[in-house]
Amino acid sequence: MTVGLTYDLRSEWLSQGYSELETAEFDREETVAAIESALRGEGLATERIGNFKGLMAALGAGKRWDLVFNFCEGMYGLGREALVPALLDAYRIPYTFSDPVVLSVSLHKGLTKRIVRDAGVATPDFAVVETAADVETVRLRYPLFAKPVAEGTGKGITPRSRIENEEELRGICDALLESYRQPVIVEEYLPGREFTTAIIGTGTEAEAVGTMEVILLETAEANAYTYMNKEYCDDRVRYELAKGVDAECCARLALQAWRALGGRDAGRIDIRMDARGEPNFIEVNPLAGLHPQHSDLPIICTMVGIGFQSLIGRIVASARRRAGV
Ligand SMILES: Nc1ncnc2c1ncn2[C@@H]1O[C@H](COP(=O)(O)OP(=O)(O)OP(=O)(O)O)[C@@H](O)[C@H]1O
Ligand SMILES: [Mg+2]
Repeated sequence: MTVGLTYDLRSEWLSQGYSELETAEFDREETVAAIESALRGEGLATERIGNFKGLMAALGAGKRWDLVFNFCEGMYGLGREALVPALLDAYRIPYTFSDPVVLSVSLHKGLTKRIVRDAGVATPDFAVVETAADVETVRLRYPLFAKPVAEGTGKGITPRSRIENEEELRGICDALLESYRQPVIVEEYLPGREFTTAIIGTGTEAEAVGTMEVILLETAEANAYTYMNKEYCDDRVRYELAKGVDAECCARLALQAWRALGGRDAGRIDIRMDARGEPNFIEVNPLAGLHPQHSDLPIICTMVGIGFQSLIGRIVASARRRAGV
C-alpha cells in the first residue's frame, strides 16, 4: 500500500517571497520527514506529493495512491484547507483527516461556534464584525476578545485582543479588518485557565486521549496564548497534563464538539474556563500541527504514552477504517 503525502512546506513558500507571518501555519521539513518515517515504520510505502500544485500536477499526470496523508493548510481563501480533500474526493482517493465541509466550517470561527452551541456545548456569546460600522451593533458584556475570524497559530492575537471598552473595540476591529482583510470575531472574554484536548478517531469511535493545561509564565504576554507566546513557548509557557475533574470536563466538552462538527481521525479542541470555572469551547483544529516535539497534539500524546509513530499509525488506521482501504 502506498501513502501519498500532501503538505505545505514553509521553506518552499518562503523561497517564493511569502512572509514569515503568511507562512506561519505551514510545516517544516522536519515534520514531513517525521511523518514519512512514522508511516514507513508502520510498514507503509510513502511518496511525497507536496502542496495543491504538486497534487494537481501529479493527478494530471495520472498518478494515484491508496491513501493520502493530507495535512495541507492552504494559502488563500476560506476553502484553503478544503481544496486538497475536495480534489481527492473528486478522484475518489481516500485521505486522512476531515472532509472539505468540516475543514471550511471550522476555519470560520463564527460558523463553528453556531454549530457547537446548537449541540449544547458552552461557548462565549459572540458577534461577527464584517465592517467598521458593525462595531456599533455589538451587544456583549465587557471584557471582550477580538481575533480574525479565520486564522490560526495565534495570528492577529496580542495582549490588546482583550478589550475593556467600546473605544478599544473600535480600535482593534479597525486594525484587524485592515491587516487581515476578513471579518473579526468578537467574543466575551474567558478569564479562566486554558486547556487543549487531543482527540483521536472519528464519530462514536473518537477518543479524547489527553488534555494539557497551557500555563502562561511571568515572561509571557498577558491575557492570551498569543502569536508571540506560541513563537517563544519554550521560555514563556508551561504545559502540564490535566488530571481529575478538569481533564474529565474538558474531554467531555471536546468530544461533544468534535462529534457535532464531524471531525475525523485526529484533532485538537481549545478550551478556557469562564468566570465560574466552567470549560468553554474556543475553537477546533481539525488539521492540528504535527511537529513531533513542538506541536500540541503530539506533545499531549507523548504525555499520555502515545509515541509519535503510534499517533500517526492510529490516524491512518482511523482513515482506513472509514474508507474501507
Ligand atoms: N473568548 C476568549 N476569551 C479568552 N481568551 C481567548 C478567547 N478566544 C481566544 N482566546 C485566547 O487566544 C488564543 C488563540 O485563540 P484561538 O485558539 O481561537 O486562535 P488560533 O490562532 O486559531 O489558535 P491555534 O494556534 O490553536 O490555531 C487562545 O488560545 C486563548 O488564549
Ligand atoms: Mg487555538
